[in-house]
Amino acid sequence: MAAFQVTDQQFEVRDDAARQPKLASPSSPGIARMSGRIKHAGLRAKITTAEAAAAMIADSSTVGMSGFTGAGYPKAVPQALAARIEREHAAGHTGRLKVWTGASTGPELDGALGRANGIELRLPYNSDPICRDKINRGEMEYLDMHLSQVAPVAWQGFLGPLDTALIEVSGIRDDGTLIPSSSVGNNKTWLDRAGQVILEVNRWQSEALDGMHDIYYGTALPPNRRPIPLIGPNDRIGETGFRCDPDKIVAIVETDAPDRNAPFSPTSAADHAIASHLVEFFTHEVAKGRLPPSLLPIQSGVGNTANAVLEALAGSPFRGLTAYTEVLQDGMVTLLDAGVLISASSTALSLSPELTEAFYGRMHYYRDKIILRPQEISNHPELIRRLGCLSMNGMIEAGIYGAVNSSHLMGSRIQNGIGGSGDFARNAYISIFMAHSTAKNGAISTIVPQPSHVDHITQDVQVLVTEQGLADLRGLSPTQRAKVIIENCAHPTYRPLLADYYSRARRDSYGLQSPMILNEALSWHQRYVETGSMLA
Ligand code: COA
Repeated sequence: MAAFQVTDQQFEVRDDAARQPKLASPSSPGIARMSGRIKHAGLRAKITTAEAAAAMIADSSTVGMSGFTGAGYPKAVPQALAARIEREHAAGHTGRLKVWTGASTGPELDGALGRANGIELRLPYNSDPICRDKINRGEMEYLDMHLSQVAPVAWQGFLGPLDTALIEVSGIRDDGTLIPSSSVGNNKTWLDRAGQVILEVNRWQSEALDGMHDIYYGTALPPNRRPIPLIGPNDRIGETGFRCDPDKIVAIVETDAPDRNAPFSPTSAADHAIASHLVEFFTHEVAKGRLPPSLLPIQSGVGNTANAVLEALAGSPFRGLTAYTEVLQDGMVTLLDAGVLISASSTALSLSPELTEAFYGRMHYYRDKIILRPQEISNHPELIRRLGCLSMNGMIEAGIYGAVNSSHLMGSRIQNGIGGSGDFARNAYISIFMAHSTAKNGAISTIVPQPSHVDHITQDVQVLVTEQGLADLRGLSPTQRAKVIIENCAHPTYRPLLADYYSRARRDSYGLQSPMILNEALSWHQRYVETGSMLA
């Protein structure tokens, strides 16, 4: 299959660890450094080392771990587990774990276990470069899922039993309730479902996190589902901690280790252009009376562009905004600081190293403005639809009719995953996707005749934005959409090529609802794989 060979230069396996602070060193031995974060006397007796806790995790079992967008993931036990697995593999054993999380974690978890070849199956979202490489080499199974669906699917049971929950918390109260960490993710479900629980109590996490969380215990499977009683984005409907039967907790490890806290790229001129198109669009919608002056709750996805757009919104005329989102990146904090945003509901913090210290230093300011919820609530379709979220997510590419690929490069290679983009896009009041109009120094057009993989069908994509312009696709048929997308969003280098393809498709296509030249629709991708450029 020489035609599909891809060079390292085209898809360099970038070591994201190089952009990250050095690996956290877990506190060891934990007993000697007892932080006072564990108030429950019975549970203090279960403090042990990471190695001893790792030894309690059965070979080839399923482990539900905390962690969402590099926040609140366990940092000590996964490294000890990776070391154990490496020793076992050297001795001829072949056991590997099934690892379920909230979303992406950090080098101490996915990086360490991936490097040790310790993961057989990973779900539901990954951005770790080592695991990404293993997945793309066919050495790790990857179940890329809508983030809102992970907890209900775990309850349905067809994924099999959950043997161990390995959860980072920021403390344990004297009544045994667990104070969540910098992310909530699927922790409630893992704690409820798992046969045994191992906790990491991380004293690096601010004690002021206590009270910031809202853990809702009212979800159920059909036919017992009830409406979720959340009407406004900053309503509190749950409890501030996790319930957990102390008898299920088999080990507690103390750590003092930072979250992944990867830095963001500096904001580019293209990011500023995307942001200004969006501000103009929202201003127009307010003027037309289709949005209130303080807009509707905003959702912003992961990635540099999404973060840069938020930062740029700080200079906009909008005030009194709210956010109902799954990840709180630096851009959201900038908006809170600027008074543009009055509250933010999320399931995780995901801050750069530069911002983390200042953020924790000002927790008294943020504490009543930020709510962290389980991801089945932060991403719940019922709530996103009710609140009327304005969803803004990054994309890999879009087709000329507006279908969006968020997850795969050249059709087959996973980048990260769909994450929560599907939860939000399908249910949003306005669903927006954005990207630079080209990638890899212009060798790739992100507007293509046909996306090489489809995560979001045309019906779920209402607005596309690149630095070239914005395409408002609402109320347009596929052929009307094609004109606007090509004219407004494509890069000038690729615009005539797309226009040429489209006019020939209208002439030669089997049907004219969504004209397509079947053997040419993916030829741009094929050309890139073969030559390193989509240009002829
Ligand atoms: N074809 C091939 N590669 C492409 C590409 C395309 N059309 N578009 C981007 N890329 C490459 C970039 O060159 C970059 O490669 P590098 O890491 O080797 O430099 C990489 O993909 C990431 O692109 P970047 O421009 O840095 O995008 P980003 O940081 O803004 O992230 C997504 C964009 C789509 C990867 C990211 O938003 C994502 O993972 N989305 C899916 C999940 C999601 O939306 N979650 C939020 C829901 S709340």
